[in-house]
Amino acid sequence: MSAEPSRAPGAVDVGTVHSVDEFEALARDRLSEMAYGYFVGGAGDERTVRANVAAWDEHDIWTRALVDVSARTTATQLLGLDLPTPLLVAPTALHQLAHPDGELATIRACNAAGVPMVVSSIASTRLEDICAQATVPVLLQLYIGADRGFTREFLQRAEAAGCAAVELTVDTPIWGTRRREAVTGFHLPDGVDVVNLRHETGGERAAVSGNPSAGGSIGEVLGWTISSNLTWADLEWLCSTTALPVLPKGICRPDDARRAVDAGASGIVVSNHGGRQLDGAPPTARSLPRVVDAVGDAVPVVVDGGIRRGTDVLRALALGARAVQVGRPVLWGLGAAGDAGVHRVLELLVTEFDQAMALSGCAAVDDITADLLTGDHTNR
Ligand SMILES: Cc1cc2nc3c(=O)[nH]c(=O)nc-3n(C[C@H](O)[C@H](O)[C@H](O)COP(=O)(O)O)c2cc1C
Repeated sequence: MSAEPSRAPGAVDVGTVHSVDEFEALARDRLSEMAYGYFVGGAGDERTVRANVAAWDEHDIWTRALVDVSARTTATQLLGLDLPTPLLVAPTALHQLAHPDGELATIRACNAAGVPMVVSSIASTRLEDICAQATVPVLLQLYIGADRGFTREFLQRAEAAGCAAVELTVDTPIWGTRRREAVTGFHLPDGVDVVNLRHETGGERAAVSGNPSAGGSIGEVLGWTISSNLTWADLEWLCSTTALPVLPKGICRPDDARRAVDAGASGIVVSNHGGRQLDGAPPTARSLPRVVDAVGDAVPVVVDGGIRRGTDVLRALALGARAVQVGRPVLWGLGAAGDAGVHRVLELLVTEFDQAMALSGCAAVDDITADLLTGDHTNR
């Protein structure tokens, strides 16, 4: 449970909320300044945060007329999984900073919406407890820390719990510097912890290392959860160590994407960590088509960063993504109204995506092709 007092505890009637941006305003009023600052913030001057959102808008949608869309479907496949819609919940840390029910509220909403959840390594709820509640696929996001034995055990736990895949985050050799974390004094409130990164020692759960209550930035509080010496050999090691499909998350360049496929990756996640790592990294809408070009049909490409409307989902698919992930929108739903809020956010995105397909003349996701967009995406 978060010990942080909420600022305006009034209940939200989620049916009256019609956009992710409205949910952000509601969450902002209800979250502690520390939690809101941690969720919203990005690295440096937050240029990449803003660019992620703006870059989708650089593409107008060139609607096709007189297409029979009466029997359309948003269904797709990813890694052999049948998905009702090409949408996943991105891994974001510490959902109990947003709501006392934390990741359990999120998985309930995912179940109701049929949207898979990628669980962060630094979730505030045990992976097994989330998986036990899940009726949708759960993927594990992995940070590889200094203790590779622990990583192997964590992977075994993910396999035993029924996870469908692993996303290895590859953009975090160190934590980005986020001014808002310093200003609001980022810390773990009493009762909120990175419970999955504990060793089981004779039934007792002990911290691997680090001081979870030190304040200031995520690097100071959770620096021990990552390592700065990862190389392509570690991706190869991971692919050969686990039976689960592995997707590196945080790929921006075509040469890296090809290298990841050679290393055994089953998919690629184009991401800049929501602008939280290197400020100045390109928006993902711009990296995506280059990466798609590089990998061809070898593996599916997933993208996240700045997706706020169903039309953005359509744009991402037109640029070659198989599916998209949403990060902050889920946290805004959670902070505003718990699982009902997350469900409403997912419902809005799914409904908007379905409407965008209908209005642009697409009866199936395969109809969402590059010619549907104006803009400079062909100039790679
Ligand atoms: C508060 C917060 C925590 C995050 N925690 C993680 C994490 O633990 N692991 C990870 O790989 N990415 C993490 N991310 C990045 C997201 O997975 C995703 O790349 C990003 O949020 C997508 O951008 P969006 O928030 O604009 O949708 C986090 C993002 C936010 C906003």
